[in-house]
Amino acid sequence: TTRRKKIYEGKAKILYEGPEPGTLIQYFKDDATAFNAQKKAILEGKGVINNRISEYIMTRLNGIGVQNHFIRRLNLREQLIKEVEIVPLEVVVRNIAAGSIATRLGLTEGQPLPRSIIEFYYKDDKLGDPMVTEEHITAFNWAATQEIDDMMAMALRVNDYLSGLFAGVGITLVDFKVEFGRVYEGDFSRVILADEISPDSCRLWDTVTNEKLDKDRFRRDLGNVIESYTEVARRLGIMKEMP
Ligand code: C5P
Repeated sequence: TTRRKKIYEGKAKILYEGPEPGTLIQYFKDDATAFNAQKKAILEGKGVINNRISEYIMTRLNGIGVQNHFIRRLNLREQLIKEVEIVPLEVVVRNIAAGSIATRLGLTEGQPLPRSIIEFYYKDDKLGDPMVTEEHITAFNWAATQEIDDMMAMALRVNDYLSGLFAGVGITLVDFKVEFGRVYEGDFSRVILADEISPDSCRLWDTVTNEKLDKDRFRRDLGNVIESYTEVARRLGIMKEMP
């Protein structure tokens, strides 16, 4: 859409060079992929909704001191973000059994977990993002021990805050995935929250009906994907009218 230099193109987003050094523009596409991109579709309007939902959540998280890459939204599909060095891990927090943990451990979907569980996955499409432990992460230098501690603490703060935020609008936060990036300040670096937080990266169930309001509608061909994402935005009090 512009003459800006493309830095990276992923499955659902594109990163462009930003207007100032240390910034990037994050563009939200309508592309949906699942099962490591074996299943693909274009969901008209998804990028617009996820841009708004992620803006809302990142802004609220910043307000409670969870530092993240979001600077400001530029337009319907783009936001200005801080440039970070992405930590090659997906950090998943789970409150209720669903998806891969239900399959892997033979749990019933919907079964509350004894406590919130954090998992790490190594970001590598060729390998299908394998689950890894702190041993692997430190041995291969994907992150330092202090960074792992910081990411776990931040992920749990995100979980506590978002669980409450969604509970307030009749939505159960079943699980979610976050990513982190390093920002350098002289000799020091710290990890901040990066990427997006949206119905693409969370499991969100209606608290009363258990209806799924997230990407599982696409993964499992349940239909009404955009309608469900829009409902999440509507309940959060954003996107009062559809674009
Ligand atoms: O598939 P699984 O049950 O491991 O997913 C856990 C959570 O992480 C879900 O909310 C899912 O949407 C999210 N996830 C993601 N990106 C991935 C894998 C999982 O956003 N590559």
